[in-house]
Amino acid sequence: MSTLKAALDVRLAPAPLDVPGLHGAAKGCDGIVCLLTEKIDAALLDAAGPSLRVVSNVAVGYDNIDVAAAKARGVIVTNTPDVLTNATAELTWALILAVTRRIGEGERLLRGGRWKGWALDFMTGMELTNKRLGVVGGGRIGRAVAARAAVFGMTVAFADVTAGAQIDGHPVVPFDELVATADVLTLHVPLTPDTRHLINRAVLERMKPSAYLVNTARGPVVDEAALASALQSGVIAGAALDVFEREPAVHPDLLGLENAVLVPHIGSATHETRAAMADLAARNAVAVLTGGKPITPV
Ligand code: DGY
Repeated sequence: MSTLKAALDVRLAPAPLDVPGLHGAAKGCDGIVCLLTEKIDAALLDAAGPSLRVVSNVAVGYDNIDVAAAKARGVIVTNTPDVLTNATAELTWALILAVTRRIGEGERLLRGGRWKGWALDFMTGMELTNKRLGVVGGGRIGRAVAARAAVFGMTVAFADVTAGAQIDGHPVVPFDELVATADVLTLHVPLTPDTRHLINRAVLERMKPSAYLVNTARGPVVDEAALASALQSGVIAGAALDVFEREPAVHPDLLGLENAVLVPHIGSATHETRAAMADLAARNAVAVLTGGKPITPV
C-alpha cells in the first residue's frame, strides 16, 4: 500500500464487493489492483471507463480477467509470477505427504477420542520412495515441485503439450501415459478452456487405484463431482485439494471423505510470499501509471 500511496492517488475499496459495488469502485480509475476473487470482465472494464490503463492482479493465475477484452480497450494486464513459486511448491508437498500418510484422517481420529492404540496395520499409507510423481504442467511451479521430489526418492515425469522430450532432465510423456503410470499426479496448469475439467471421470478411471491426485492449480481443472464419486468408490486412493470449482463452496460429497485432504486455497499463503505478491502488484501498477513499462505483464 505504501508503494501505491507514494506515487498515486489511491482509492481503497472495501472487500468483498458485489458486482455493482465493484463497478462503482472502478469508475473513473486509471488503474485497478485486484485479487483473484474479483471478476474483471468486459462489463467491469466498461464501467471503469476510458481512463483505465492497467489491471494489476495480485496472483499469478489470471483466469478472473478477460485479457482479450482488456487488450481490446488498450488496458495492460499484469500478474505476480515467480514470487509465489516456492510457497506453492511447498504446499504441494505438504498435501502430497498429508494425503499419502493420512495426516488429516489421523488427526481427526485422535482429536475425536477414537485412537485405541498402536497396531501393526493401523493407518497405513503409501510410501513415496521409488514411486512416480506425475507433474501435469512444466511451468515454474510444476518444475519447483519436481525439484523437491529427489529428497523423497521419487522418480518424476511431466506432461506438457508445449515442452520437448525432457524438462530439467525428467521425461515428458503423453498425458494419458502420465495419468496411467503416476503414483501421485499433481496439477500445475493454468485454467483455460482447454484445461477446464482436464481431470474428469474418464481420466480418473485411467489412474492406478492406488494413486493420489493433488491440485494446487485451479479448482475447475478437476471435475469435483467426478472426483468425489471416484474417491467414494475407490477408483483412486485419495486426493488433496487446495482449490475448488466454486470457492469458497466445496462439493458436499468431498467434505465427508476421509481420503480427501481439503485446504482453503492457501498455496501462496506465507508471510514472505503474500508480501512479495502485494509489492509486485503495486510496482506493476505504479510502473504503468507513471509512464514506465509493466514489470510482469500477462
Ligand atoms: C495465484 O496466484 O494464482 C494463486 O492461486 C493465489 O496464490
